[in-house]
Amino acid sequence: METVLSGIRPTGNLHLGNYFGALRNFIKMQNEYNCYFFIADYHSLTTHPTPQNLSGNVKQVLAEYLAAGLDPDKCTLYIQSDVPEVAELYLFFNMNAYIGELERCTSFKDKIRSQPQNVNAGLLTYPTLMAADILLHNAHKVPVGKDQEQHLEMTRTFGNRFNRMYNVDYFNEPQAFNFGEALVKIPGLNGSGKMGKSEGEGNAIYLFDTADEIRKKVMKAVTDGGPTVENQEKPEAIQNLFQLMRVVSTPDTLAHFDEQYNKCAIRYGDMKKQLAEDMIKFVAPFRAKIEDNLNNVDYLRKVAKQGQDKARASASKTIRDVREIIGFKAF
Ligand code: TRP
Repeated sequence: METVLSGIRPTGNLHLGNYFGALRNFIKMQNEYNCYFFIADYHSLTTHPTPQNLSGNVKQVLAEYLAAGLDPDKCTLYIQSDVPEVAELYLFFNMNAYIGELERCTSFKDKIRSQPQNVNAGLLTYPTLMAADILLHNAHKVPVGKDQEQHLEMTRTFGNRFNRMYNVDYFNEPQAFNFGEALVKIPGLNGSGKMGKSEGEGNAIYLFDTADEIRKKVMKAVTDGGPTVENQEKPEAIQNLFQLMRVVSTPDTLAHFDEQYNKCAIRYGDMKKQLAEDMIKFVAPFRAKIEDNLNNVDYLRKVAKQGQDKARASASKTIRDVREIIGFKAF
């Protein structure tokens, strides 16, 4: 069976865009592949979180991914820093990673621009740690967005370089997992663009949002003065509201407001009220499960331990092999 692997950044809460994007595919993939999903807490040190923030974020992300449907009995769900073998593989890859190729990486150049006061070596070597994440389990497929394709290309470079250097055929070439049509695009509430936490306050609906928070955000969603000609095309902000309704409301509800729009009789206030209530119905069970998980620390610990054990079994084998190949062996 092919191995799929993905890292999850422990920043921010899951929103509907995440859920209908990669997450639903992770949930499907865990039935079909040998999946490794891990919380990338070593990577997050590049931005210097406080100890409280770091451990709080890791716990929250674990609670949320479990609530959303990742099943620790089907996939290997672990915390990166629980598997220190990755740090050793990272060290080995760094010895053969050239400063020039790391400096040319787009994500590094972006960071120099966005955080010029903190251009640390961890940022420069982010791609070697990511290569270590992936090759530690010799993953075949990595479900990543466009922004990570270059990192994946570098992963193949580092793996191939290792193979060539030691004249072995040890690491395979991981490929991007393309979801294609399966990705449902979820727009935000600001009138343009997709849902995301960096798109401004109130743009995203989180699985952890309360009913009141959802109501407030939806009622503030951007609309326009309303249609003036029957059956006129919907501007982006209005299309977005309808798209959100399409994913959380019944087809009848959607058809009703569509008809109102086409007859120029729509009242956006009514539509938003309905959308808010349907979103609350959709989100409430997730929020309840997240809260349950957060209150059940024993369960979270058990899940993390189970993931750690499975991940270390695979990781320690890789490290044993790699040490032997490099020449760390008994005289
Ligand atoms: N860089 C990824 C991101 O920003 C997170 C990540 C870390 C990752 N290690 C990985 C993704 C390994 C896939 C495979 O989202």
